[in-house]
Amino acid sequence: MAFYTPQKGVFLFKRVFSVKIRERMLKTQITNLKNEAIGEILETNEVKILEEIRAKFLGRSGKLSELTKEIPKLIPEERKNIGNLIAETKRTIENALRQAGEKIEEKSGEKEEFLDVTAPAIHPTEGHLHLMTEIIREISQIFANLGFHRVRYPEVEWDWYSFGGLNFPENHPARDEWETFFVEDLENKKFGKGLLTPHTSSGQLREMEQTKPPIRMINISKCYRRESGISHAPMFHQFESLVVDKGINITHLKGTLDYFAKNFFGPTRKTRVRPFHFQFTEPSFEVDVSCGLCEGKGCRFCKEGWLELGGAGMVHPNVLKNGGIDPEIYSGFASGFGVERSLMMKSGLAIDDIRYLYTNDFRFLKQF
Ligand code: FA5
Repeated sequence: MAFYTPQKGVFLFKRVFSVKIRERMLKTQITNLKNEAIGEILETNEVKILEEIRAKFLGRSGKLSELTKEIPKLIPEERKNIGNLIAETKRTIENALRQAGEKIEEKSGEKEEFLDVTAPAIHPTEGHLHLMTEIIREISQIFANLGFHRVRYPEVEWDWYSFGGLNFPENHPARDEWETFFVEDLENKKFGKGLLTPHTSSGQLREMEQTKPPIRMINISKCYRRESGISHAPMFHQFESLVVDKGINITHLKGTLDYFAKNFFGPTRKTRVRPFHFQFTEPSFEVDVSCGLCEGKGCRFCKEGWLELGGAGMVHPNVLKNGGIDPEIYSGFASGFGVERSLMMKSGLAIDDIRYLYTNDFRFLKQF
């Protein structure tokens, strides 16, 4: 090999030696240049200065280009090494410049974000009271306008208040297990079995026990019956009016019903009473309201122009007595209507299934 020729060998040795030194020096210079560039890049937060740094290190007559000029002076394998190192350094500096540029942009974007505390806020979706709560409040208000005060009595009640004290005979079908929910193992010697109250009429006796005439109550609460369907729910609400005073008669009842119907259903709606039978009122009636769809002319939705609202009548003397009120001195009227059914009969509402009210489907509830 040529290396073994002493002269040539010396020459070659010298040359190889000097190239090795140049290569090392170049490598050091390149590394230092890279560090210098990155140090400057990290220190700046201005895009303009980044451009200056780019020109200073990567530009045509930049520092890295100057070092590139040294490559031809190297032997081929060293050229390759240094060439690769320069290319890699160029990439590293370019990446550092790009990342620094992005950061500066991000920060300037943040700074430019304008916070106007007076601008209208983005409101979270607003909810509202459940339709049933709203309607119960509306009913309470209409009766309050006539001087009725809102009461609520127990929903887990004794037989006496729901049936016995209201004149129901022992064998009345409403007392059957198939009609009423009885509470297991709940019995009172004086008041009988415990049950879930099937109607708000139990509030009549409770109110008479608590208040002496004049009485003007509106009892709105939950009722429970073994029924289910599009117009019957096992849990529903009733509102019960009770007036007891001297000289109360059917015209007071009719006037109150009309006032309620006009204020709740609309000024064109009328009421009518039909003879009926309830144990706790005498005489008793079923109360109808004129149909809001056909204005009383008769349509698919109603019975010859009328919709059934509930029951009413003059308080039976026995019930007054059971409530501790002398029927020789006082008389009274009572009415009991379903809240859900009344709501469904309201003009403009097309609620054709009572179960919608309790399935908690927002698509339904949001409409009101
Ligand atoms: C009664 O409950 C009597 N206590 C009403 C009364 C009060 C009469 C005072 C006389 C004096 P009735 O069972 O008809 O009556 O019910 C009255 C109303 O409650 C019905 O017209 C209906 O609107 C509503 N209702 C009854 N059962 C249900 C049920 N399962 N689901 C929804 N509403 C019902």
